[in-house]
Amino acid sequence: MNERIDSASPPSHTRIDAVIDAFRDQVHWCGELGAPFTQRLLRAALADLKSGGWLARRIGAWSGNPVADALPLRVAGALHALALAGAAAALARHYPPRDTDRDASLWPTAVAALKANAALLDDYLARAPQTNEIGRAALLYAGFGAIVARRLLPLRLLEIGASAGLNMQWDRYRYRLGAVIRGDAASSVEIQCDWTGALPPDVPINVRARLGCDLASIDLADPTQQLRLRSYVWPDQPDRLVRLDAAIELAQRIGLPQVDAADAATWLPAQLARPAQGVITVIYHTVVWMYLPAPVREALKAAINDAGRRATGANPLAWLSLEFPEKGRPAQLSLTEWPGGETRTLALAHPHGSWVQWLLAAA
Ligand SMILES: C[S@@+](CC[C@H](N)C(=O)[O-])C[C@H]1O[C@@H](n2cnc3c(N)ncnc32)[C@H](O)[C@@H]1O
Repeated sequence: MNERIDSASPPSHTRIDAVIDAFRDQVHWCGELGAPFTQRLLRAALADLKSGGWLARRIGAWSGNPVADALPLRVAGALHALALAGAAAALARHYPPRDTDRDASLWPTAVAALKANAALLDDYLARAPQTNEIGRAALLYAGFGAIVARRLLPLRLLEIGASAGLNMQWDRYRYRLGAVIRGDAASSVEIQCDWTGALPPDVPINVRARLGCDLASIDLADPTQQLRLRSYVWPDQPDRLVRLDAAIELAQRIGLPQVDAADAATWLPAQLARPAQGVITVIYHTVVWMYLPAPVREALKAAINDAGRRATGANPLAWLSLEFPEKGRPAQLSLTEWPGGETRTLALAHPHGSWVQWLLAAA
């Protein structure tokens, strides 16, 4: 447990001020990111914190860094979970698409729900919010296409930071890239993307093995973990929730992805040490690198480069990543392939994959 509250002591000025600042920041970002309901909820929470209300007494003594810990999103996630689970019918009535009258009873209803579900709130306060954004699969689909276009071999997938593993089934989704349909046209999951530039290579995909790891892997067979994953999608973004639910349903139908609960620092070298014949081994990750401590990044780079040196034309290696090379800039899809070790930037993209600027010329 990662409980950060010293409940024996009243909130000091410094601590409550830091908590207030974190909520004020999040209210701002909800406005910037088009989440008016979550903004209104957190604005009401902010008023509670400023006036020494129930929430101020519950989390005002937070001893960690409330911004780095994403404390406002822990509270928002707990409330969304209660609304989604049907555990708080009065609260659920306020959630989109129902909340049209901006009813002032939202916050008292929220507090009543949190008080009645103290164990759930404890659980949410103790954990970092965690998502699995399948909009990023559009970039994976395109990146894997670029890999296979060079060498028509089956794939062995190794995803690090895979969360619930929903991006390990990227070849089982249908992609609407502007006006063009790609991927599995018969899939129950559709991912839409504003695509600019040439279309990605359209090649036959054959996945022979798919493995993933995550420090905090999510087991979709456990309804509590599934609810937690869903609850961190903002209620203002129903399309994302519908898409996530469809991907979960597909995974349950075709077989849940295998995500080992492990640190990439030990898991990846162990996987790379296992022989793989006649496949392209692809290490990939989306929005994970920034969460890794510098020594882990260095160890992973060394392990990947070592494996790259051992790669041959018959047993090649690729490293595909969707990450942020610079703060405040678009995400970047990069690919390094061995033998050779050549690196290419394939695309720039929205962090959730809602738009993609593909940089490769048409094949
Ligand atoms: C922002 S999430 C992205 C999840 C997923 N890749 C996606 O795009 O939806 C970052 C993930 O990295 C995982 N993570 C962080 N450090 C890790 C490590 N050392 N080894 C494995 N996973 C790690 C976290 O648990 C979390 O699931």
